[in-house]
Amino acid sequence: MELDLVMRTTGAARAFTDAPVDDATISRVLERARFAPSGGNRQPWRVIVIEDPQQRRKLRDLVVLGWREYAAFIEAGEVPFAPGPDGLPNRSEIDLEVARATARPSSFVDDLDQVPALLVIGAHLPSLAVLDWGLQRQSIIGGASVYPFVQNLLLSAHEEGLGGVITSFLARQEAAASDLLGFPPEIGIAAVVALGVPEKFPTRLTRRPVEEFTTIDRLDGPPFP
Ligand SMILES: Cc1cc2nc3c(=O)[nH]c(=O)nc-3n(C[C@H](O)[C@H](O)[C@H](O)COP(=O)(O)O)c2cc1C
Repeated sequence: MELDLVMRTTGAARAFTDAPVDDATISRVLERARFAPSGGNRQPWRVIVIEDPQQRRKLRDLVVLGWREYAAFIEAGEVPFAPGPDGLPNRSEIDLEVARATARPSSFVDDLDQVPALLVIGAHLPSLAVLDWGLQRQSIIGGASVYPFVQNLLLSAHEEGLGGVITSFLARQEAAASDLLGFPPEIGIAAVVALGVPEKFPTRLTRRPVEEFTTIDRLDGPPFP
């Protein structure tokens, strides 16, 4: 596919046909994705392909809990887990225990164990170059050594006629998930990626135009170009 078209149409796909995704295809997807950049080229990503049906169901159950928390924020009109204006962790009044106990039917998360391919992406934490470490705000940079790889997975999957979505719900249950996946403390959960032949490929993604987020010299400078 033309790079221009791939970049404009690799949107989130959460509903898939029954078409299976075989190991050879997953291997090719990973083979291209591995050319992602990372701080110091330390390539901190670890990938677990979740095949066993019971392992898939257990993972799904943990993802559901993260989704329920997320949905409670949305229902309250809040950006889920967003830092406040000071950049520090959210001080929401939402009761996360209640949120986790409140059923929120969602075909995507409820059927996550059924998706054609299910990958968990871990990050080897001691390999991350967290240059904004110690700033009095949420860190951004550590994740940047693993998410280009995760986006590459989606771009690479697109080349195979597949679509998918990056999800982060599982991080809300990192202890239980690490237990399930055999992750030692130095591996953090970055994402769960579902892949398959999408029921429909996105053709027009809703994104802000360049002039809305690009300025010259300063944030309050004139728009670029
Ligand atoms: C870091 C990151 C985390 C995300 N986490 C989730 C998630 O937990 N669940 C989910 O359904 N989508 C998740 N997404 C997908 C976004 O919702 C999606 O990329 C965005 O809404 C744009 O959707 P579109 O491509 O369909 O326009 C995540 C995306 C990124 C980049």
